[in-house]
Amino acid sequence: MTDHIQTELSGGVLTVTLARPEKKNAITQAMYAALSDAVERARTDDAVRVLLFRSEGDSFSAGNDIADFIALGSQGQQPTDMSVFRFLKALAEFDKPAVAAVRGRAVGIGLTLLLHCDMVVVAEDALLSVPFINLALAPEAASSMLLPAAIGHHRAFEMFALGEPIDGRTAVAWGLANRAVPADGVEAAAADLAGKLAARAPNSIRKTKRLMRDAEALWALMQREGEAFGSQMSSPEAMEAFMAFSQKRAPDFSKAG
Ligand code: COA
Repeated sequence: MTDHIQTELSGGVLTVTLARPEKKNAITQAMYAALSDAVERARTDDAVRVLLFRSEGDSFSAGNDIADFIALGSQGQQPTDMSVFRFLKALAEFDKPAVAAVRGRAVGIGLTLLLHCDMVVVAEDALLSVPFINLALAPEAASSMLLPAAIGHHRAFEMFALGEPIDGRTAVAWGLANRAVPADGVEAAAADLAGKLAARAPNSIRKTKRLMRDAEALWALMQREGEAFGSQMSSPEAMEAFMAFSQKRAPDFSKAG
């Protein structure tokens, strides 16, 4: 159980709130378990027409909790055994419309989650990044395929390899989001879209989404990515990157072999 994920069903929209603002909504294993429950419920409960992801505080999500990475990496646990994988499978299988309201930072899975949403509203000054290589990790959530498919290989490679953020306007220009609006209008714009989608013919919209994505292929890729991610997670270079983050210093990969 965690209070860091909150859900509310209203008007056919299941709103899932990341509520750990003091840690920029970094996602722990307990939060992944609660997110998995929410997405699985959204898929199977006929009362839910649309899933809406939003957040408390000034950031959408700083990605996976790095303290969890340190704990899990040192235990040698495979990512496929972790709650995050249940969440990724639920995302791959989710066939109702998903909307996201993104303000501030969206890092790592905070961005790759958006690749599984159908309509994304970002703040113009939001900052989106996938610094997997800065952390000596590898892409997840099928982003190794979905990100280049959305924005092209060169941009995607640069985002993975250099880890620098793009702003909300650029995210829209590159095809990662539908609308960029001033930060104080993000919640209303996303809620408006979710409400519109909830009023559409539910079976038609579901069949359309199923035709547009291959859930089995996404899940197969997530598992392949998990192997690369898992072997990196317990590697000396990743441990150096995680420790550097906790010690608020730059990582030193000069001795990595
Ligand atoms: N895991 C665990 N804790 C995190 C975190 C994460 N991914 N991201 C932020 N936090 C914590 C910080 O350690 C800090 O905790 P403290 O107050 O106890 O020191 C708190 O959240 C606030 O973060 P801070 O770094 O001070 O905020 P900022 O506004 O200066 O920077 C970010 C925000 C998101 C740019 C920065 O926190 C960051 O780079 N986080 C890591 C992102 C990341 O690499 N995620 C993993 C991707 S795979």
